[in-house]
This record gives sequence, C-alpha cells and structure tokens, in this order.
Amino acid sequence: MIEVVTVPLEGRAYDVRIGPGLIARAGVEIAPLLARPRVAVVTETRVAALHLEALRAGLAAAGIEMVALELPPGESTKAWPEFSRCVEWLLEQKIERRDVVIALGGGVIGDLVGFAAAVLRRGIRFVQIPTSLLAQVDSSVGGKTGINAPQGKNLIGAFHQPALVLADTDALNSLPPRDFLSGYGEVVKYGLLGDAAFFDWLETRGPDLLSGDQGARIEAVRRSVQMKADIVLRDETEQGDRALLNLGHTFCHALESATGYSDRLLHGEGVAIGCALAFELSARLGLCPQEEPSRVRAHLRAMGMKVDLADIEGDLPDAGALLALMGQDKKVIDGQLRFILARGIGAAFVTSDVPQEEVLKLLTDALAIR
Ligand code: GLY
Repeated sequence: MIEVVTVPLEGRAYDVRIGPGLIARAGVEIAPLLARPRVAVVTETRVAALHLEALRAGLAAAGIEMVALELPPGESTKAWPEFSRCVEWLLEQKIERRDVVIALGGGVIGDLVGFAAAVLRRGIRFVQIPTSLLAQVDSSVGGKTGINAPQGKNLIGAFHQPALVLADTDALNSLPPRDFLSGYGEVVKYGLLGDAAFFDWLETRGPDLLSGDQGARIEAVRRSVQMKADIVLRDETEQGDRALLNLGHTFCHALESATGYSDRLLHGEGVAIGCALAFELSARLGLCPQEEPSRVRAHLRAMGMKVDLADIEGDLPDAGALLALMGQDKKVIDGQLRFILARGIGAAFVTSDVPQEEVLKLLTDALAIR
C-alpha cells in the first residue's frame, strides 16, 4: 500500500510517496520526470552498502542507467569540501539542466545534494529517497537544503523543492534502534506542535512503530509529512508558521553545540529533550497546565528516549553558557530569542516574549538533576 501526500506549491507541486518497496520501484516512479534514461545518484557509504544495488536494479528495470557517488557518512560531510566534490562530480558526469539528481540517504545527504541541485547550472531537479526516519518525516520534505559553516549548522543553503520524494518504509527496517528513536523525536514533535489526536495515537501506537509494524510506520510517516506539507504550503520560506516546525529546536541546537555535534546527542534526541523543556517552560510561564509537560515526558520515557539533560553522557556547560549557545540560533531576530511554546499538546505558537531569567532558571534546574 503506497500513501501519497502532495505538496501543492504553485508551479512546483510534488508528491511524497510513502510505503514499502519504493526503492525497488524507483525506475517506474522516476521515469516520468526524465528527459533521458540516465540519473546521477549521490549517497554515503553506509547507505550505499544497504540500498544502492537495490536502487540500481530498480532503475534498470525501467531502462534507466545510473552513475553514483558515495560520500563519507556523518555530519562532517555536510560542509564545503564534500559539497564541492559533489558538484564537480556532477559536472564531470555531464549532468545537464534537464537531468535529475537523486539523493539517497538521511538528512545529511538530502540537504547537501538538494543544495548541489539548487546551484548546479543555476538549478536542476532532484529526487529525495530518504532512508532514515528523520529524513522521511522532516528533512526530505519542504525544500530546505544546505550545508554547515564553521559558524553554525545549516547557515549556507537555499530553498529548493524536490521534484519527488520516495519514502520507502522498508528502509526503516535496517536502521539501528537508536537512529529510529532519534527520528521518532521529530514524529512526536508534529503531534506536540499541532495535532493532539496524533499525539494520542502515538501514545497508543508508538511501541508498535518501534517494533516494526509496517502499517503503523506508514501512518506515522504519512501524518507527519501531511502536517509538514500543510505548514510549508502556508509559509514556504519561514516568515511565520513554518517556525512551528522548530519546536524543541532552540534548546536542541544549544545542546548539540555543547556536545560538539557528536554521537553523545543525535539530532532527534535533542529535539525530544528540547520539546520536554519547551513544555516545561510553557507550564512555568502559566501558558499550559503542568500535566502537559508531565504527559510529554511520560511518553518519551515510555518509548525509551532521552528526556532529561541527565540522559546526555558526559559534562555539559552551565546554564549561562547554554543560554549563550541558544542566542546563536538562526531564529534570533534583533538579538531577541524566539521560542516555540505551547498552550497545550497540539497547540504550539511562536513568541519572543520569554523572560531570560525564566529560561536560565529552567536550565539551572534541569542541570541540577544530573
Ligand atoms: N525542519 C524544519 C523545517 O523544514 O522547516
């Protein structure tokens, strides 16, 4: 069963197709986009070992030839050196304006290849084949592409929408449990920010998702992508509502920076901890009842996720230093930190009206229980 969510942006509408076996069917899915039966695939070595030959066979079944570049895995790939290697390789392969590039992998590959497609010959089309849960529910949809700068994450990039997204839910079967749970942090985020019924559903079906229930996984990806598509349609370039997708991210980015973007904290783990902190802050500011952060924390705990700062191994800087790191966030406007807070589960909103002392106190208390 394949589910389809359309992102109906004018003149650039595209489908996100969700379900099993999509890598094996990639040829028939992609063929209608092609001016000639040849594509360039950019991936990373770990994903290549799992899925590249299946993709080659899937494309060949529709008579499509493929050339492939394998970059190293990991966040450090998302920077100028591998980016220029990718762009120059695409030029060497004589990829033309009407050709299509395929990004096969997780968020790092999707962001980097999307950005390469945005600038190559002033913009060519690309297809996302996201293989991580995080990429399927978030980064492959919505057109944010880019790489990291020494000054911070995702500071160099462009909005460039894919022409098609193939979210093959079979690919989730090969994810290590920690990576799956990290992606789940972004799934929970959708329920928390805008869909209380989805959060209710996750409370019941979350364990099935984890144990590999195919139907539950397809449904979770579909609902997440649908919510993202709706938000992107309202606010493609993040002038307003799209910032809601950053629920938990201001705390997360500070924690990722404090842990050196290392394996100590995966992105989705930081999002989960950040969501718990955002709900706690909302309750402390009297915006939502205390039961709401308790319910968020209980669900994350029940799923075996990181919830507290104490769940991050090793030392963390003090509350003042964490607050300073939050101040480097892209969401700072005129020096004012913007927060995504909530009036309850499923009711997030954006505000700059948060007293710094409250944030400092929250972080001090959170660090004290380590
Ligand atoms: N991942 C947040 C966004 O796409 O806006």
